[in-house]
Amino acid sequence: MPLQDSVEMGMTLPQVVERIEQRDFYEPLFTEAFGDATVTTQRTSRALAQFVRSLTTYQSRFDQGRAMVANPGQNFPNFTAQENQGKNLFFAPPQAGGFNCAVCHAGEAQINRPAGATNNGVISNAEVDQGVFHTTGNPADRGKFKVPSLRNISVTAPYMHDGRFATLQETLQFYSTGIQNHANLDPVLRAPGPGGGQPVRFNMTQGEINALIAFFDTLTDTTMLNDPKFSDPFPAEMGYTYCNDAADNTTGFSASISATGSIIASANDLTLHAVNLPENQFSMFVGGPAQVLVLNPGGSQGNLCVGGGNFGRIANSLQLSGTIGAISYDLDLQNMPTSAAPYTTSITSGMTWNFQSWFRENGGNSNFSNAVSIFFL
Ligand code: HEC
Repeated sequence: MPLQDSVEMGMTLPQVVERIEQRDFYEPLFTEAFGDATVTTQRTSRALAQFVRSLTTYQSRFDQGRAMVANPGQNFPNFTAQENQGKNLFFAPPQAGGFNCAVCHAGEAQINRPAGATNNGVISNAEVDQGVFHTTGNPADRGKFKVPSLRNISVTAPYMHDGRFATLQETLQFYSTGIQNHANLDPVLRAPGPGGGQPVRFNMTQGEINALIAFFDTLTDTTMLNDPKFSDPFPAEMGYTYCNDAADNTTGFSASISATGSIIASANDLTLHAVNLPENQFSMFVGGPAQVLVLNPGGSQGNLCVGGGNFGRIANSLQLSGTIGAISYDLDLQNMPTSAAPYTTSITSGMTWNFQSWFRENGGNSNFSNAVSIFFL
């Protein structure tokens, strides 16, 4: 697997399995996907492969426009004049006033043409990294790189295999006047005609560059980019304290909160625990999807950092065992308790909920323990 390569993760497969086994996070996920929690190399690679296959983009403005016309050469009704201009420059051959980009950035994903990797003149014969050549050893492969998809190109800077161009403007400036005469430079990027063969100079105007950039923006699939399924699940992992450390409370107890159970929204078996609470006090959990810092609510000690106007509350009396109290609460994730909240809600996958426990002393102060943020799957 590529992740073993030194320029990727540089980790052996047994190390990968060991790391995954060490994190509680994966246990319910392996059970959900494979029937039990055993981590193996094969299961890990299958899960990764399935994840990568799920990363498809088909909801950009380009896709919407493409569905309205018979072929990509026609003007798209949902595009501005500038976007259509950029599209035509991208698709049309030079004799029709275009730059032939789609010969290589082919098909509906603007990706690798059928002939495979090629040389687009971005590197010289002398550069160390000669691309595909280092895998095949074939001199005809020197300087060849895979033609990357241009889907979401506006949000994936920097550009080229080594990120040498910081912006699309720089990248297009290269195609305009900077294509280098590599021995394997693709004929598509050589000037035609007698005495030709030199790297082509498109000499794009700034207006043409702007039109191409406007066209690239239509390839951005914001639905996919904002899909919580593809967001980082770790910052909000169970047990992560997102706001403050427990504030010292007036009774001197360092109360804390934790959660156990499943983070799968449909599983209904999450339990919150708060420990080290002083006995004989009134205590409750507060939970909400927003992360809002409320300073000293009600003249209390500490900061409440969940909620906003619309959090759920779960009231509970403290256990009176021993000197230090603890409370637990089982959450039905589809039916959130909202005893003091103005609305009812349930937890759905892709949401992060923040829970905090607090208690009220006999003297009247409220005291806050730590919080947990939980990303639900
Ligand atoms: C001969 C084939 C070919 C043609 C024609 C071509 N490209 Fe490329 N393009 C490539 C290859 C190969 C790469 C990747 C090079 C690398 O990784 O260093 C690339 C990379 C790019 C990138 C950067 C992609 C990324 O994710 O880093 C952009 C943007 C781009 N091309 C736009 C264009 C535009 C616009 C045109 C037309 C003016 C064009 N290309 C014409 C082969 C081509």
